[in-house]
Amino acid sequence: MWVHEAIPRAEYEAAAAWIRERTAHRPRIGIVLGSGLAALAEAVSEADRMAFTEIPGFPAATVEGHPGQVVMGRLEGHPVMVLQGRAHFYEGYSIQRVTFPIRVMQLLGIRTLIVTNAAGGLNPAFRPGDLMLIRDHIGLLGMAGVNPLRGPNEAAWGPRFPDLSQVYDPTLRALARAAAEAEGVPVHEGVYVMLGGPSFETPAEVRFLRLIGADAVGMSTVPEVIVAGHAGMRVLGLSGISNVLNPEAFHPPRHEEVLEAGRILVPRMQAVLRGVLRRLGP
Ligand code: HPA
Repeated sequence: MWVHEAIPRAEYEAAAAWIRERTAHRPRIGIVLGSGLAALAEAVSEADRMAFTEIPGFPAATVEGHPGQVVMGRLEGHPVMVLQGRAHFYEGYSIQRVTFPIRVMQLLGIRTLIVTNAAGGLNPAFRPGDLMLIRDHIGLLGMAGVNPLRGPNEAAWGPRFPDLSQVYDPTLRALARAAAEAEGVPVHEGVYVMLGGPSFETPAEVRFLRLIGADAVGMSTVPEVIVAGHAGMRVLGLSGISNVLNPEAFHPPRHEEVLEAGRILVPRMQAVLRGVLRRLGP
């Protein structure tokens, strides 16, 4: 039960209905705000806010820096559904509960998903405060069987064997690159690897993660993107590099450097996010 949970469709439908009753917004764009990035939701206008704890079935976000609210409103002229904070697998939720809000987004008509996170930089070219556009991911949990799609497949949600090779949409990535360049934000492109956490990587694990081709490492995002891909959404993934990991001169991520990088990352993420929305057609 701690890893895997069969959640009946009715539970997702109840959450979607609960949200629909409390807002007039009918967004097609969803945004997930990761660690330290919750402040981005303050720019949403005409906002209807709902705490995760009051929405039936939603996992509460227990980690500091994750307020745990759904914000329905408008951003850069688009109706949006923002998850201000997220639940992580390491908090003890099943992988299906972690991705519960993404299924609810599917029911509410979300077709484009922008996911953000804070990540450790593995690529030696990365500096704290840089952004990375996710081109692809390595889902270590999913590869080992902890996949939100495990269990009987309901065709109404998506295909049994979904193709994720293009889930990080190249067109959205190009918009993000254009937005970053226009705003003068340093941006890379790369592969995000997800670990279960909550312990940070050891130096040997950092060497391993570099060897398998990962550029940034974190503890979220991949399960959400698997469900989004299953749902046929197009995804833009943005990692904010909060610290760098060097196996030859190793120090663990320091809280102060993560906070300092966060101060730089919030305005940069915000500029890129808003730039992407401005460049998106209606
Ligand atoms: N490792 C894993 N997850 C993280 C890190 C890290 O160094 N930084 C932010 N999230």
